Amino acid sequence: MLPRLDSRDVSDLTGMSGPRKLYVKSFGCQMNVYDSHRMADTLAPEGYVETATPDDADLVILNTCHIREKAAEKVYSELGRIRNIKQQASQEGRRVLIAVAGCVAQAEGEEIIRRAPAVDLVVGPQSYHRLPDLLAQAAGRRVVDTEFPVEDKFDFLAPPAREKTRARGVSAFVTVQEGCDKFCTFCVVPYTRGTEVSRPVAKIVAEVERLAEAGVRELTLIGQNVNAYHGEGPDGGPWPLGRLLHRLAEVPGIARLRYTTSHPRDMDTSLIAAHRDLPALMPYLHLPVQSGSDRILAAMNRRHTRAEYAAVVAKLRDTRHDLAVSSDFIVGFPGESEEDFLETLSLVDEIGYASAFSFKYSPRPGTPAAAMEQVPEAVKVERLHRLQQAIDRHQAAFNARCLGKTFEVLFEKPGKRPGQLVGRSPWLQPVHALAPAALIGEIVPVTITEIGSNSLFGTLAVSSRHNEDSSAALAMAGA
Ligand code: 5AD
Ligand code: SF4
Repeated sequence: MLPRLDSRDVSDLTGMSGPRKLYVKSFGCQMNVYDSHRMADTLAPEGYVETATPDDADLVILNTCHIREKAAEKVYSELGRIRNIKQQASQEGRRVLIAVAGCVAQAEGEEIIRRAPAVDLVVGPQSYHRLPDLLAQAAGRRVVDTEFPVEDKFDFLAPPAREKTRARGVSAFVTVQEGCDKFCTFCVVPYTRGTEVSRPVAKIVAEVERLAEAGVRELTLIGQNVNAYHGEGPDGGPWPLGRLLHRLAEVPGIARLRYTTSHPRDMDTSLIAAHRDLPALMPYLHLPVQSGSDRILAAMNRRHTRAEYAAVVAKLRDTRHDLAVSSDFIVGFPGESEEDFLETLSLVDEIGYASAFSFKYSPRPGTPAAAMEQVPEAVKVERLHRLQQAIDRHQAAFNARCLGKTFEVLFEKPGKRPGQLVGRSPWLQPVHALAPAALIGEIVPVTITEIGSNSLFGTLAVSSRHNEDSSAALAMAGA
């Protein structure tokens, strides 16, 4: 355990007083976005106010991603830019602290300071609650904290102020689970985020009640392997994710629920039943398969076959007929032959994904697949292109089927054009429509009139009288 300083000592040590400016930049996944918010919330009582640019910041935090080499390298080029800002500020007599957080911090530790000496603090994802103390120490010397502490960071991370929650929008992320025990052979997550830990139900409910009270209507429960959730329930026993979803649907104001990212092996009966029984649970599921070849799935240590994956999807679609499915794919995993890759293409056709992410395999230090025989880069590039074409075809077909249909949209914010709002369909597609700003936070039927490349366009399907009624009802509910 590192020595602790009283957090009030920070300004004494840095020679700064009054509000200090904090710039946080997130790379990578939604959990990093969530963590960045919680870091900013935890530093707010220390006098840090967020700023939109690093140029006038007193503290810069880069919340980093290590999942692929490109993501990790981005951090070092960003650090070069921030170092120049730090030097400039120093010439003006201003001290800027640079902190590297997230998975690169966890994976590389001291190495970051060796490569980028301008960095003052390296802090792993499990130590964010110690930030005020760590910053106080970093004012005097360089600090690295990549421990997995025994205390639960969520007990110490500050909740956001009500106005901050409102400003962040009507759709919010909540971490319910962290870490992963699956050890897919390509993946750094079990090393950077550690072993699976689920937050207790009562703490999640309290966080969600606060969010709902501030106007949040949609929740996305997040975790690296979210459907492995097994948090302690009020009865003392572990609750599966399906049961947690039922409980959160009861929180007044919460109208929509989503969760990500899931492992096919952990789609248990309670979760599948929740897709049938819970109207608030949106009919869209991100269920990564990574490859359509059993040989490659085995080499990836995915612990499921192609047929088992397809069977889970079929079961889910039996329970919820309008369920749209998305996935992650890796092309060019070590040993992937053209035949293996064709199996992936045929799985894309078999499942008919509404959308999907695809990546070239990127060897990660310390993972088993990094030591296997690699596929040439040119082959990866070519396969990625073919896969993306297949995915785009299915996505376009899925979107085209929405033309003329009417469904509910949760409006989130003003659109690009005057008078327009943008929201999300139940299937996560962005939907643009002319609508009054009072409908932000409202769920309103929209008829789709036009299909764009990445979003849908529509018109309100209800009379303006009805809109007035429903927004008045929302105002009365105090949402
Ligand atoms: N190379 C390429 N893609 C990867 N992913 C995880 N590790 C790697 C890697 N080493 C992809 C997987 C995962 C997503 C978040 O990132 O598809 O589901
Ligand atoms: Fe990584 Fe997901 Fe596999 Fe866990 S289940 S090791 S997070 S790819």
